[in-house]
Amino acid sequence: MSRMVIRGGLAAVRPPPRSATQDDLPDPAALIAALPLPLAVIDAANRFTCANTAAEHFFGHSLGQLRHLALTDVLAADCPLFLLIAQVRASGITVSDHDLTLSGPRLERTCIAVQAALLAESTGSVLLTFHDSSGARALDRQLAYRGAARSVAGMAAILAHEVKNPLSGIRGAAQLLEPTLPPRDRELAVLIRDEADRIRDLVDRMEEFGDKPIVRGPVNIHRVLGHVRRIAETGFAAHLRIVEQYDPSLPAVSGNRDQLVQVLLNLVKNAAEALTEGDAIDGEITLITRFDHGPRLMVAGAGQPVALPLVVAVRDNGPGISDDIRPHLFEPFITTRRTGSGLGLSLVAKIIGDHGGLIEVESRPGRTEFRLRLPRQPDCPDDDPG
Ligand SMILES: Nc1ncnc2c1ncn2[C@@H]1O[C@H](COP(=O)(O)OP(=O)(O)OP(=O)(O)O)[C@@H](O)[C@H]1O
Ligand SMILES: [Mg+2]
Repeated sequence: MSRMVIRGGLAAVRPPPRSATQDDLPDPAALIAALPLPLAVIDAANRFTCANTAAEHFFGHSLGQLRHLALTDVLAADCPLFLLIAQVRASGITVSDHDLTLSGPRLERTCIAVQAALLAESTGSVLLTFHDSSGARALDRQLAYRGAARSVAGMAAILAHEVKNPLSGIRGAAQLLEPTLPPRDRELAVLIRDEADRIRDLVDRMEEFGDKPIVRGPVNIHRVLGHVRRIAETGFAAHLRIVEQYDPSLPAVSGNRDQLVQVLLNLVKNAAEALTEGDAIDGEITLITRFDHGPRLMVAGAGQPVALPLVVAVRDNGPGISDDIRPHLFEPFITTRRTGSGLGLSLVAKIIGDHGGLIEVESRPGRTEFRLRLPRQPDCPDDDPG
């Protein structure tokens, strides 16, 4: 059996003696180093004895640092991974788990699949590999949201047809009655008018889910964010601080400017509402852009893996998303707000899906972040019209 050794700062599997025919085979150490999958080995005391480059990024420590650390230094003591490792040592068989949350001082990951295998029974060394399946999860969910969005569009078509016309009749009648009524009854006529308006607005919002073909072009996302910021600062977020963390060299997004305004306005509005309702002291909304090479992803309808390197995020320091609604966050009519329709995020998911993009969420008290991953405009000059 080959033995693990540390060579030149990189953990390597010492190869068996080479024969002439093996000369062309790549060095296993180089293969491990280049593997895009985080891979690490821990000894019986859970101390790191080796890690590849992907694992260094994953844990946020260089190999030199990791070699002085134990798993308990990088992961919270109650992390389910410790149980998994104990099972491997007790049973001697390879164990995997598919939906672990790993958190520690420099690590906050959900939907991580881990495989743990005993490396050398006598020493208790365990080989760990990690696989981030959050992107795949987000894609699965996004497909479900698109289905839900289609049913909202279907329902809106029926409501527009069957409800909107009689509703405008009711509204008109109430308006005609209003001046003829004594003051006490006039209030009731106003109530009918206002409530009729509310139903009409709801149906109008539902109609936005319709399957209109999207007209795409190069969009300067910083201009979109600037526009959304101005709307927010002069209205619903006037009492909050808005901070920008931009990558100024970000290339143009391939998208529809008006729809992206709609998406970001919904996210910033939600953040402002969470901060206002949560009575957060020093409420702050951060608008973020960055370039992330990331892996290529299979997106529905694309046929081949696509790159989504443009990241646009809205972060707030509010109370976080309520646990009750988290699994259904992007479904239509899910809301915790008395006056909310629960259509904002499902519209966001639909529009981002139509753009071939992805939306991810991370939320805990004091930090909620909605992250959009969008395609870049191919061959676009930097000074696009936005
Ligand atoms: N930044 C956030 N922080 C905490 N909770 C949030 C945040 N964004 C969304 N939520 C939760 O998600 C729910 C759904 O949001 P969504 O935008 O779909 O609907 P809404 O804001 O309630 O109503 P509408 O957008 O139709 O006015 C909200 O009611 C809220 O509970
Ligand atoms: Mg909303």
